[in-house]
Amino acid sequence: MSRSAHPAGPRHGDVLPEGHYAAPPADLNLLDPKVWSKTVTRDEATGAVTVAGLDVRALAEQFGTPAYILDEEDFRSRCRAWQQAFSHLDADVYYAGKAFLSRAVVRWLHEEGLNVDVCSGGELTVALSAGMPPERIAFHGNNKTRAELEYAVKAGIGHVVVDSFEELVRLAWAADQQGVRQKILLRVTVGVEAHTHEFIATAHEDQKFGFSLTGGQAAEAVRRALTLDGVELVGIHSHIGSQIFDMAGFEVAARRVVGLLAEVKREHGVELPEIDLGGGLGIAYTSDDDPREPQEIATALTEIVRRECAAEGLAIPRLSVEPGRAIVGPSAFTLYEVGTIKPLEGLRTYVSVDGGMSDNIRTALYDAEYSVALVSRASDAEPMLSRVVGKHCESGDIVVRDAFLPDDLAPGDLLAVPATGAYCRSMASNYNHALRPPVVAVRDGQARVVVRRETEEDLLRLDVG
Ligand code: LLP
Repeated sequence: MSRSAHPAGPRHGDVLPEGHYAAPPADLNLLDPKVWSKTVTRDEATGAVTVAGLDVRALAEQFGTPAYILDEEDFRSRCRAWQQAFSHLDADVYYAGKAFLSRAVVRWLHEEGLNVDVCSGGELTVALSAGMPPERIAFHGNNKTRAELEYAVKAGIGHVVVDSFEELVRLAWAADQQGVRQKILLRVTVGVEAHTHEFIATAHEDQKFGFSLTGGQAAEAVRRALTLDGVELVGIHSHIGSQIFDMAGFEVAARRVVGLLAEVKREHGVELPEIDLGGGLGIAYTSDDDPREPQEIATALTEIVRRECAAEGLAIPRLSVEPGRAIVGPSAFTLYEVGTIKPLEGLRTYVSVDGGMSDNIRTALYDAEYSVALVSRASDAEPMLSRVVGKHCESGDIVVRDAFLPDDLAPGDLLAVPATGAYCRSMASNYNHALRPPVVAVRDGQARVVVRRETEEDLLRLDVG
């Protein structure tokens, strides 16, 4: 056992301050496959971690830190798992681009046979510019602008998921102008309380998305959509929230969506051919999380849809799902270098890394929990209760709230935070004029930058004053 390098910080066995942490893992060198991407291992000879056969120290040397390291094989295998889970059905998998979108990722999606959902003109541009066929793109959002709608219609995208009465009229007008009929789904609020953070739950009544089912707006939206020449109503969409483990919410949503199809048939004599049940499946950020597999959600959803359709005398509609986090989340980790280490007597040790809330806002915003590991070497030192913080000018700049790191940690060591593929680069900011980190894709011993690091010239280019 090494001598403690940070004698003032609490160790395991001391009375520890309040926190989310469980006991330290028996071996800090172990990498739980639940939270790390598939090709990550620790090299027995060097003690350093490798991904796709590449040593993280070499990656840090070549690309700098912080950096998001994206494991292409892991990403593709998750795409395939979703495709396979739904392959026996008349079903489509749309990857939710908001989780992370780049042209490389769009090409991988295309090759793996997935579709993509976008929620802004910017995401649409990235998807189209990487060659995603427009008919395999769906467009979401609660306040799409007139310009965005015209752009989407002109590009010939497959579906627009309509979120408001205003949008219905704007879209029908845009389509009329271009002499086309745009296929649409209506997003409905099914009134489910998803068990997740309030900011990422989207199907309870008191929030901004969709047409309420219980309030009657959904039925009214169907009525209006059926009278407009510019749009062709093909189905109903529901998304109940994100980072959800409990299947019950998805099942209730599926039941209520099919219920609306039945109502539409009774009132209008029309059988809508499609339903889209959104995304939201949770992933493991720490070893305590127990995510469901795509196969489980596929089985649960299809059983419910089949049963409800049989009960209502409806043909089984084409089913879509929109996983974002569950595909890209586990595929990447963020690589940081340790800069300073401050043990606080009786509290914990603050470990500062060279990034922070600008590359991962989720801890500050949602109280999200993450894991972290020393990856540039192995260590058999004592576990040290730590908080991994960034370099930004606020005390809420926390990357990992509670973690155990070996107490021989030193400046210059590399740490990695797993499961940062989703909603980290895509929500990154320039706070304190930080330069947003690159995304480095790794596969079969090869690494390449797919989104480059920002530079100070990039910052100055926008500052035209
Ligand atoms: N479909 C729709 C209509 C959505 O709004 C979303 C996510 C998804 C699919 C994909 O959900 P996923 O499978 O990734 O959970 N920034 C938050 C998450 C916001 C999710 C927004 N909508 C976070 O970092 O947790």
